[in-house]
Amino acid sequence: MKTTIEIFSSKKNKSKISMITCYDYSTAVILNKTEIDSILVGDTLGMVFQGNDSTLPVTMDEMIYHTKAVRKGAPDKFLILDMPFLTYHINVEDAVRNAGRALKEAHAEAVKVEGGEEMIDKIKAMISAKIPVMGHIGLTPQSINLFGGYKVQGKSVDDAKKLINNALVLEEAGVFAIVLEGIPEKLAEIITKKLTIPTIGIGAGRYVDGQIIVINDILGIYEDFVPKFVKKYANLGADIKKGIETYIKEVNDGIYPAEEHVYKINKEILDIIKKV
Ligand code: KIV
Repeated sequence: MKTTIEIFSSKKNKSKISMITCYDYSTAVILNKTEIDSILVGDTLGMVFQGNDSTLPVTMDEMIYHTKAVRKGAPDKFLILDMPFLTYHINVEDAVRNAGRALKEAHAEAVKVEGGEEMIDKIKAMISAKIPVMGHIGLTPQSINLFGGYKVQGKSVDDAKKLINNALVLEEAGVFAIVLEGIPEKLAEIITKKLTIPTIGIGAGRYVDGQIIVINDILGIYEDFVPKFVKKYANLGADIKKGIETYIKEVNDGIYPAEEHVYKINKEILDIIKKV
């Protein structure tokens, strides 16, 4: 059954919301067969797919390219496009036009934007244009140059108060859920209890309404940077390496391709060809 935006409100205070990132068609086909509630095409693709050391270089066109592929593979999942750096920061018109592309061109159902109070005019304009928005506060990766790296946020009284205020302002603006990234568990719990909309944690502990994670991290296929909160549910990196090594050996040893992998030709045709 198709998941819609209602999955978020219906699960608040009842059951946990599960979310995961995805960047390509083949993986999306697999996710579509699972019970995952929603998929985010994250701008983390700038790191795990493109090999950059941050998410900052990702463009709107690239997000649309990947989201289109994921949409085709996962038609039944509520799909969110992550707005990349500088596509919603400059002015309201730009923000609405770019967010609108997520729905019009990539067929996502919502967008996610990083930031709090300072982004509210853009977020309100997107929602007025009927574009559902998911908020994202805490260790927001597009702000690493301000933070001085990937550092846990909300550890001082002032920072924690600012995050609580940002969550309340985002709720007031009309976002349907908020991602809390890289903040202490107790702070995430306080924020979650203050909101009527769900919180989705990543490195925010247990007392949130749901979890989101980068798929490459939990499947063991991206190991350039593994944060403390990542749990590996599979070791695909090692499996891929082993599979490729076996392939190379079988090619070298003449074991692959075998009889069952080759195309046959009719004997009469073969006899003619041999005489050519
Ligand atoms: O870009 C991303 O993948 C994200 C999630 C990790 C929340 O923003």
